Amino acid sequence: MPAGPRARDRTDLKAQGPRPPWGRGWRAERAGGGGLDRRLIYQVMQTGTRSVSIFGLGYVGSVMAACLAHKSNRVIGVDVNPTKVAMLNSGRSPILEKRMDQLVAEGHQACRLHATTDAGAAIHESDISFVCVGTPSQRNGKLDLSHIEHVCGEIGRGLGRKDAYHWVVLRSTLLPGTTDAVAVPILEAASGKRAGADFAVCYNPEFMREGNAVTDFFQPPFTILGSRHTQDVAALRELYAWVPGRTFETSVPVAEMVKYVSNAYHALKVSFANEVGTICKQLGVDTESVMEIFTSDTKLNISDAYLTPGFAFGGSCLPKDLRALGYRARELDLRLPVIEAILLSNQEHVERAVEAVLQAGKRRVGMLGLSFKAGTDDLRESPQVQLIKRLLGEGCQIRIWDRDVSMGRLIGSNRQFIEEVIPHIGSLLAPTLEEVVKEAEVVIVGTISIDKGALASVLHPDQFVMDLVNLRKSHRTEGLPFCKGICW
Ligand SMILES: NC(=O)c1ccc[n+]([C@@H]2O[C@H](COP(=O)([O-])OP(=O)(O)OC[C@H]3O[C@@H](n4cnc5c(N)ncnc54)[C@H](O)[C@@H]3O)[C@@H](O)[C@H]2O)c1
Repeated sequence: MPAGPRARDRTDLKAQGPRPPWGRGWRAERAGGGGLDRRLIYQVMQTGTRSVSIFGLGYVGSVMAACLAHKSNRVIGVDVNPTKVAMLNSGRSPILEKRMDQLVAEGHQACRLHATTDAGAAIHESDISFVCVGTPSQRNGKLDLSHIEHVCGEIGRGLGRKDAYHWVVLRSTLLPGTTDAVAVPILEAASGKRAGADFAVCYNPEFMREGNAVTDFFQPPFTILGSRHTQDVAALRELYAWVPGRTFETSVPVAEMVKYVSNAYHALKVSFANEVGTICKQLGVDTESVMEIFTSDTKLNISDAYLTPGFAFGGSCLPKDLRALGYRARELDLRLPVIEAILLSNQEHVERAVEAVLQAGKRRVGMLGLSFKAGTDDLRESPQVQLIKRLLGEGCQIRIWDRDVSMGRLIGSNRQFIEEVIPHIGSLLAPTLEEVVKEAEVVIVGTISIDKGALASVLHPDQFVMDLVNLRKSHRTEGLPFCKGICW
């Protein structure tokens, strides 16, 4: 176990030799299943390598307890439900899950796995506590944090009675900011101690899938260690040293949010696949073949392509093809809300950009980039064109520069589109970036085809710079007074 900020105060069970826990504030044993077997806990303390308490013996906590015990840690499960505690203490799994019966029995026999209803005792006899209690929905969808609040109070009181440094690691799914705004104040108030100084608080989301939970625990897609102070994760790094795959050490809110983004994306994929299947079936197209071929593309389809928050999509294909698919679905009397919502979401994103410009309270706008993406002069369904049209309607004065767009060169459907949508756009185009930026109060970066030096040399500090396209870091202009995007 690496040294924590108060390492000198820590009680190292191995170094000092285990002490029998009974007689030091352990709660009276309950008759029946939920009680403590003090002698067994004592054995647990003596045999393992690290001591971990796990609060909440549901699907997440039980699996974690059994798997960490399998990895030679001393594990104390804690639950308010005495039946679950009794099951674990008799070597039976509290949940139905592949391999769990075997792992729990193995942990029990090796005296590495035990459970209790006594939170204070578990805190006293462990170094790291994981919080795996439920975070269900309230009727209105709001996250119900009552179990988190209750367990943090219990853990806090345990910390108040403990001299040694301790790690509290939240693993329940929590909205960003919850650890800092809810868990930490309760832990501090109940313990009378300070997070960061007297104990560490980390966030470590769980990515297991029920039905495959044990395998996922041993081989997670990645490990995310969110901490408030980087030194806090040392203990987790060591605990998870055997875990394959990438480990990300990040802030607590990022770790909290990755869990929600992952679940939202998984849900989106399920719904998307089901809608694809629905329209395929109605069209008499073999869904399985479609999805097999679709998922085999790991360059554009199953990849990080198109997953960078930036500006809206456009061009001659995506909007048109989504409209055609939506129209065909309606012809078939099918409702495909996910696919239908994509264009609405895209339009909303353009509106966010309009709002951001208007909120700046300035009307002279310089637009850098006009085509739907860099390296082309295709203006068809360009969201940059839509944005300009909306801003002109709001009374903004606009000058535009795009290295790749010259009105004289536009031909065919490209020219036709612009003549129909915004025929006088040519009069707004300027030949150089400098000319556009110099006169603007608001500069909108709508293309990645920008010479960073050229932009920096003409920008002045009182300009509002909005980077829609999320220029990669290397392209970002340093020292700008104000430069932000609408979704990054
Ligand atoms: N189930 C999953 O597949 C899964 C996967 C990843 C993340 N999560 C998240 O993990 C968390 C736990 O999920 P779960 O499915 O294991 O929940 P669960 O309802 O199965 O288990 C929660 C357990 O916590 C216990 N508990 C409640 N208050 C307690 C307290 N004060 N002290 C000790 N124990 C207490 C309950 O008795 C229960 O046994 C949730 O936030 C969930 O969103 C779940």
